[in-house]
Amino acid sequence: MVSKGTATLNFSNGHPPVELPIYSGSVGPDVVDIRALGGKAGMFTYDPGFMSTASCSSTITYIDGDKGVLLYRGYPIEQLAQQCDFLEVCYLLLNGELPNAPQKQQFDDTVKRHTMLHEQLVRFYSGFRRDAHPMAVMVGVVGALSAFYHEAMDISDARHREVSAFRLIAKLPTITAMAYKYNQGQPFMYPRNSLNYVENFMHMMFATPCEEYRPNPVLVRALDRILILHADHEQNASTSTVRLAGSSGANPFACISAGIACLWGPAHGGANEACLKMLEEIGDVSRIGQYIKRAKDKDDSFKLMGFGHRVYKNFDPRAKLMRETCHGVLNELGLKDDRLFKLAVELEKIALEDDYFISKKLYPNVDFYSGLIYQAMGFPVAMFPVLFAIPRTSGWLAQWQEMRADAEQKHRLRQAGRGPDGEAQITEDPDHDAPDVRELLPLRKQRVLHRGLV
Ligand code: CMC
Repeated sequence: MVSKGTATLNFSNGHPPVELPIYSGSVGPDVVDIRALGGKAGMFTYDPGFMSTASCSSTITYIDGDKGVLLYRGYPIEQLAQQCDFLEVCYLLLNGELPNAPQKQQFDDTVKRHTMLHEQLVRFYSGFRRDAHPMAVMVGVVGALSAFYHEAMDISDARHREVSAFRLIAKLPTITAMAYKYNQGQPFMYPRNSLNYVENFMHMMFATPCEEYRPNPVLVRALDRILILHADHEQNASTSTVRLAGSSGANPFACISAGIACLWGPAHGGANEACLKMLEEIGDVSRIGQYIKRAKDKDDSFKLMGFGHRVYKNFDPRAKLMRETCHGVLNELGLKDDRLFKLAVELEKIALEDDYFISKKLYPNVDFYSGLIYQAMGFPVAMFPVLFAIPRTSGWLAQWQEMRADAEQKHRLRQAGRGPDGEAQITEDPDHDAPDVRELLPLRKQRVLHRGLV
C-alpha cells in the first residue's frame, strides 16, 4: 500500500493529538492505519462488526458497492461467468491468474483424482440421523477430513497447503451428494472421472444405480455459472471466520468447517430459502401490492427477501446474471410459466419502480432468483446453503492462503469493556482531568469469588 500522508486524532479529554498514517490501496477507499493507537493513546477504536474497519489487506476480490462492481483478481464477475468454467475461476482465486490450457488440464485432472472419500469416512454417514440437515453433515464430515491426512497437514509447507486445497475443492461435491443420498435413503453414487466437475456433482446427486443418468448440459452450464458467482465475496462473515480460525494455525479442514458453520446462519447462506418462502407466501401477483406495503411499513418486521445488501447500494452484479440464468433454466425445463417465477419477475419490477426502494437504494441481491433455479433443478431447500458452501470453499481457501502468507495477520480482537451488570467499567477519574485509561484499570469493578479451594 502507498503512503498518503497522515490523519491527526484530537482528543477532548486532553490527551495530546495522535498522528496516524493514511495508506492507499490500488482499489477502494484509503485507510487510516490505527495499529499504533493503543500504544500511543492507550485507547482502542470501537467499531462493532468491523463495519468501518479493514480487517486485512487483500488482492483477491474487490467490491464497489456503490457502482455494483465485483472483481475476482481484477476480472469483472460478468466476464468470468460468461467466459470461464468454475475450476478456472478456482485456479484464478488460488493462483492470482487464469490458467493457460496445460495448466487448466493439469488442475482439472488433479481435482478429479481427489474426488473420492476415504471409505472409513464414508462410514461416518451412518452415524448421522437420516433427517440431519445437510449443513450439519458438512460441518462434521469436512472437519473430520483433518483426521485422514496427517501426511500433508503441515500448514507451513506450501505443497501441503496446495494438496489440502485440492482435496477440499474435489471432495466438497462428493460430501454434499452423499449427505443428500443418505437423507433420501438411496445408495451413494461414487464420482466418475469421465465427467467434469459439475456433471459429476449432478451425477452423484441425481443418478441411481438403476438407470443411466445424463446431466442436462443447459443445467450443467447454469450450475457452473452459479458456482462462479458464489466463489468469493471478500471479507464477509464466513470468510472472516475462516481467516480467524486459520490465524491460530488450525488446519485447513478445521478452518473450512468453521466457515461452513458460519455460512449456515439464515442471515448468510439462508436468504434464498427465505426468499422462496416469501414468494410462496405472497402466492399470487394480485397480492404483491399488499406485501410491498408491508415491506415499507416501519411497524411491520416484514422485509422483501432477496432485496437490499450490506455492501451493494446498487444492483448486485450477481443478481443480473442470476436472473438471466433463471430464465435459461426455466425455459429449458419448460417452466417459464412457473407461478413463482412470474411472481418474482413482477415483484422485482414493482419494487424497482417504487420510491421507497429507489430512495433507500434497495436492489435485488444474489439470493432473489437463486432459490427458484435450485428448486427447478430438483434440489431440496435444505441443500441451498450447501450449494453456496461448495464454491465458497475455493474463496475461503484463497483467503486462508493469503492470510497465512501475510506477516501482518495476527488476530486478537479487542472489546469495549462493560461490567458483569452491563455498566461501563471505565469511569472518569475525578482526580485527573486527562485520564490515561491504562491508569484507570485498578478502578474497574472486580467481583470476588467467595469459595474455598477444592
Ligand atoms: N425490504 C424492505 N426494507 C428494507 C429492506 C428490504 N429487503 N432492506 C433494507 N430495508 C430498509 C431498512 O428497513 C432500512 O430502513 P430505514 O432507513 O427506514 O431504517 C433501510 O432500508 C436500510 O436498511 P439497512 O438494514 O440499514 O440495510 P443494511 O444494508 O444494513 O441491510 C440487509 C442489508 C441485507 C440485511 C437487508 O437489506 C435485508 O434484510 N434484506 C433482506 C434479506 C436478504 O435478502 N438477505 C440477503 C443478502 S445478500 C447475501 C450475500 O451477499 O451473501
